[in-house]
Amino acid sequence: MSSPETTPATQSEQERRARGQRKLVSLLVVLVLAGAIGGLVWYKLFREVPTTYADDADLFKYGSIGNEAYDGIPYWLWLVLPRVFPEHLPGNGGYAALGMVWEEGHTLPDGSWKPSGEVPIGFSKKTIGFPRIAMNCAICHLSVVRKPDENVATLYPGGTGNQMNTQGYLRFLFACANDPRFTADILMPEIQYNVKLSLVDQLLYRYLLIPQTRKALLEQEKRYAFMNTRTDWSIGEIDPFNPVKFNVLGMDSATDDTVGNSDMEPIWNLQPREGMALHWDGLNTSIREVVLSSAIGDGARAPTLPLATLERLENYLRKLPAPEYPFPVDQKLAARGKEIYQRTGCAECHNFGAKRTGTVIPVAEVGTDPERHKLWREEAARRYNNYAKDYPWKFNNFRATDGYASVPLDGVWIRAPFLHNGSVPSLSDLLEPPAKRPKVFYRGNNRYDPTKVGFVSDVAEEKGRRFFKYDTSLKANSNAGHAGATYGTELSADDKTALVEYLKTP
Ligand code: HEC
Ligand code: HEC
Repeated sequence: MSSPETTPATQSEQERRARGQRKLVSLLVVLVLAGAIGGLVWYKLFREVPTTYADDADLFKYGSIGNEAYDGIPYWLWLVLPRVFPEHLPGNGGYAALGMVWEEGHTLPDGSWKPSGEVPIGFSKKTIGFPRIAMNCAICHLSVVRKPDENVATLYPGGTGNQMNTQGYLRFLFACANDPRFTADILMPEIQYNVKLSLVDQLLYRYLLIPQTRKALLEQEKRYAFMNTRTDWSIGEIDPFNPVKFNVLGMDSATDDTVGNSDMEPIWNLQPREGMALHWDGLNTSIREVVLSSAIGDGARAPTLPLATLERLENYLRKLPAPEYPFPVDQKLAARGKEIYQRTGCAECHNFGAKRTGTVIPVAEVGTDPERHKLWREEAARRYNNYAKDYPWKFNNFRATDGYASVPLDGVWIRAPFLHNGSVPSLSDLLEPPAKRPKVFYRGNNRYDPTKVGFVSDVAEEKGRRFFKYDTSLKANSNAGHAGATYGTELSADDKTALVEYLKTP
């Protein structure tokens, strides 16, 4: 009610003002609410919590290479998948069945205690809104070696993923996403068993993260459908560049039947490799470009590449020494082997500083399986060089070649099986003519065989772990080539033994 003193005009004036104030208040309330919701959404979905690693080796094993935003899986969901869907794994033991390694807790040189890893080596856990997990370089670049009489394995960061089943990992995730039990009702109790989520996080997982992860995995499965019509990747192998062609560079997988399967390469001691043909076919010669493009190949994207972290990783890898052979070496025999190595012609293609080391040897000359080099032609190189044109960093050195790089042989003992497609199980076998090399063998065993110089390759399964049956008659798996007088396959048996002994030395 208005007071008797107020005129009708001032009355309506006051009402207007009051109405205006009420509107302002509601607007403020809406704004504050929207702000709070927006803030909550930002906090729960996009807030980025940086991870720091004082130690370069830890950065390599657990650091982020910038792929969580695109390829990260909600951590708690990822953790329970093997427990809910063990039947989609190739063996017992959860993710370990795929070759992943959890570090044990141990005392550091300074006396402090380092707890066991929260994630396996080769994964980073990073919060972008919610904790996410994604792979990094170490999932593929880690060697795991057990001595013949020991059960504890030694780990060699920078190595060749000798027990990692990358395709098995992808197929496990896809099988989970296709399983009708991939629902919040089934997964939430399992997640709650591991972690006490807040009510908001429970809602987030139930209504957003679980359904969205499923959708994203099914989409990723489509992008990787090309794998299903080609030779399977063996343990220790991936097809590194077809996914880049089809998923990053916009090339068409329907009109492309190349099989790019290739053995993981070691990435230690990069410094003296600057300017050499890098990657098996020498498709680039710049270490920096190879490091950046590796992160992109693993799901990072140009706008968010963590340049400082990748530079630190690069510097670590430039200096990381190749591991020494951990068994006794017969020095006298090795000295004789050195002469044979030099006389036969190995040095000319494999010694640092030699004329042909780190160059591309045409397929016509080296004679190894042609598939891997066929997959990367001029058009792909042109597109990748163009990819970074809008960024402060550039790609200029991608190219197509006609063969395979004559790689330096540092740490060669650990790089079995040999050749770009991992088609020859041991050094002894590599010195045999192709017809006498094993036609079928098993990959993935980390037990070392110092006699043949390679990993045990004639056992199909051990303690419930199935190894990968590698069939050299399949497309891209040929074990031909790197044969003839200059490649040592015509030496006498004694000379071969001496040469193999020499190859164990640094
Ligand atoms: C999913 C497995 C995988 C991951 C992850 C991976 N790589 Fe590789 N890497 C490979 C394979 C396989 C090759 C050999 C590929 C080829 O040329 O066919 C390779 C080759 C390389 C080479 C070339 C070595 C040489 O001597 O020519 C470098 C350098 C390299 N990787 C660095 C990295 C870095 C740095 C990362 C992380 C940012 C990384 N890789 C992540 C599998 C992987
Ligand atoms: C004309 C140059 C040339 C000569 C000579 C040569 N190699 Fe090679 N070597 C290569 C090339 C190229 C590759 C990679 C081929 C491939 O993977 O398809 C290779 C691969 C290898 C590998 C496999 C490396 C790995 O990581 O898988 C070993 C081991 C090796 N050579 C040892 C030798 C030995 C020992 C000799 C001498 C008896 C020799 N090579 C002679 C060019 C040569």
